[in-house]
Formats: sequence, structure tokens, C-alpha cells
Amino acid sequence: MISETEYKKRRETLAEQLKNNSLSVLFSAVQQIRSNDTEYVFRQNSNFYYMTGFKEDNATLVFLKKKGKTKTILFVQKKDKLKELWTGKRLGVKQSKKRFLIDKVYAQEDFETKLKEYMQGITSINYDFNSYTDKAKVLHAYAKDMLSYANLAKPIEQMRLYKSPTEIALIRKAIAITKEAHHRAMHMSKKCNYEYELQAEIEYVFKKNAALSDAYTSIVAGGNNANTLHYIDNNKPLHHGDLILIDAGCEYNYYASDITRSIPTSGKFTQAQKELYEMVLEVELAIIKMIQPNIKRTQLQKKSEELLCAGMVKLGILKGDVKKLLKKQKHKKYYPHGIGHWMGIDVHDQAPYKDENGKELLLQSGMVMTIEPGVYIEKDDTNVPLKYRGIGIRIEDDILVTDEGHENLSQGIAKTINEIEKYA
Ligand code: GLY
Ligand code: MN
Ligand code: MN
Repeated sequence: MISETEYKKRRETLAEQLKNNSLSVLFSAVQQIRSNDTEYVFRQNSNFYYMTGFKEDNATLVFLKKKGKTKTILFVQKKDKLKELWTGKRLGVKQSKKRFLIDKVYAQEDFETKLKEYMQGITSINYDFNSYTDKAKVLHAYAKDMLSYANLAKPIEQMRLYKSPTEIALIRKAIAITKEAHHRAMHMSKKCNYEYELQAEIEYVFKKNAALSDAYTSIVAGGNNANTLHYIDNNKPLHHGDLILIDAGCEYNYYASDITRSIPTSGKFTQAQKELYEMVLEVELAIIKMIQPNIKRTQLQKKSEELLCAGMVKLGILKGDVKKLLKKQKHKKYYPHGIGHWMGIDVHDQAPYKDENGKELLLQSGMVMTIEPGVYIEKDDTNVPLKYRGIGIRIEDDILVTDEGHENLSQGIAKTINEIEKYA
């Protein structure tokens, strides 16, 4: 668990970066309607959560910086017996004051009045441009007249890039649960007739282990469906002899995992599947090996394209000179996506890969990144040997950059052909 002291430290780190005479505001997420009288499960805004650890909606965090000193103020929902009867207990003003190491706590209803008061002498406003809710509109009305206003998400994203030991522990836990889920899928694949059955087996393990949500909608794609990168229908029959691409990861206490495995429905890879799988696996391992401080993501991207392109030439999927094929981007038809992304509170942790001057970030100890090369061959692609058509393979792991190089946090999830077949 992340302590109140750690949250306080995060707020202090952010406050140091704020200008004098500035007002900075973070809004909670807004409860979303699914359809008549039903709501989606509430999920806190990631930046708001990172700064507070507070899971209720209708809340606002304010940083008021004057004369080099920052006051933090939290607005929360008031206690309300009737509303709490329907939607559950609220912390309320008093309990929030006790729990959070925040200077002042008020009821949400006081926000606009207090805002007017805080605005005295303010010359710049910061807020998260991504959370443009009705409350943000009130603020925006002020911001337009300001000397300067800036996106508060930017400095928070930078902080979120570097995971603390407690954050890494939560990611490890999410991955441990996801490991069990993928192993169950490997074991159950022969017994499942539809993609959704396998999805249920995976998500059963998530919930059973207190990971109450998936970090993104699970992809369970049998056969040719694996060639649709974001396939989430998961409603087709599984056919004996096909591969199933499973991209599924749970969210545990607001921290993600993001794992892909490609496994056989029959429990055994065919010869053609083996050939393609071994090739992608070799590339994945080679890219993971490169991860260490001061390397750039584009270096990993470039190398993965070179290796996959060369691998595809070897298998006869692409024909010609590797360098020329790369130059003409021919490999992109079969490997159209990035090698990986930041991961943390969000599965795609919201941080740019370049600094504000357009210079690419170097990987540093404490960052977490996925590595996920893939090859996707449509069933009707007559340019490719028949035996490979209709196969889509991606292999994805979650990697922590360390001082020494890296640690594959998902190392324990079966990945070689032997390991996967043993689980069947
Ligand atoms: N699961 C989404 C991704 O791999 O990026
Ligand atoms: Mn990913
Ligand atoms: Mn994924």
C-alpha cells in the first residue's frame, strides 16, 4: 500500500515545480452512465489518484502557491445519509481531514466560492487539460484571462515515469495475478469452445485475487482474429489447431499489468506455428536484453523492426534484401505497431517519449515499459507461404529498468514452446 506520507511527498515534489502566485487544480474522474439507470464502475482519474490516493468522485485537489509556499486544499463530497444508503459510504470532510496530509478540506459545494477567494493575486493557472469536466470549465473561464495557464498533467506525467518501490510492488502483484490467469488459460484452452469462455477463465482469476478490474479489455483472439490488433469481441468459436492470442492484464489497486501470450487451442503448436513463434520470441528476448539506462525507445523500435524483417525474410514471408525492405517499410505490413509503451497506473502510462524540446527520453532506472513485438498474417494474404496464413503472434512482457540493466517483471509467465505446452 502507498502511505499518506508518499502521497504528501508527491504533492510536495509537484509544488516545488509550480510558479509563484499560481493556482493548480486536479479534478477527480466523473461517474459515467452506461445506459438508463446503470453506471459504469467508477475509476478514479489517474493523475488525481497519483496525487491523493482518494477513490471517490466529485472531488477536487487545489495547490495554492504564494510567496514560495504552497497550501494544499481538498474538496470532497459531504456526508449524506440518503445518498450513502444508495451508493455507499463517503469519507466526508472530517474523515478526509484526518486521513489525508492535506492542509484544508472543504465540501465540494464550497469550491466556486473558495475559488474566487483563491484567485486574488494569481497570475497563472494550471490544470489537467485531459480532464475537461464541467468543473474544469469554471476554471477555464478564469484561465482565459490569466497571464499564463499550463497543463498540470505534464509535470505529473514526468513524476509518474519513475516508479517508487511501493509502486513497483503493486505492479509485481498485478503481474503475479496475471501470471496465474495466463497459466490457467494455457491449461484450459483445450476445454474451451469459444473465445469468451477463455476470457472468463482469465478474468475469474483476476477477480478471485482481488484485482477487481482488468487494466484494459481482454483480447482473446482465436486464429485469424489475432490479426485485428485491438480485437475485443471475443465471441467467436475456437478451432482446433489454431493459435489464440491472449492479451490480458489485471489492474491491482490502480496498477496495471499488460501481458500477451500466443497459445495453441490443441495444447500443441503445429510446425508452422512453431517456426513463426520461435522467430518472434527470439526478437522479443533480444530487445529485452537491450534494455538498460540511457538507451532510447527508438533504438529498441529500430532493432525490433530490423530483426523481425530479417526473420520474415528467413521464413519466406518477405522476399528480397533486408535493408531494402526496411527502407521501403515493407515489414510494417506485418509488424505495424510500436515495440512497447510506459506502464503504471495506466496500462499506457500517460507520458511522452520526448522532452519539451523534442529530445527523446533516455530509459532510466525506475521506469516500466512493455516489450511486445508481433507478426500478423491475414488468412487471405497470398504473398505469404500458405502455412503461415491466418496466424497472428504477439509476445508481451513488462520490464523494469534498473541501475544494472533491467528486470523482466513477468519472467515467470510461461513463454517458450515447451513451457506453454507443459501447461496444456
Ligand atoms: N494491451 C494493450 C497493449 O498491449 O498495448
Ligand atoms: Mn502493451
Ligand atoms: Mn497488451
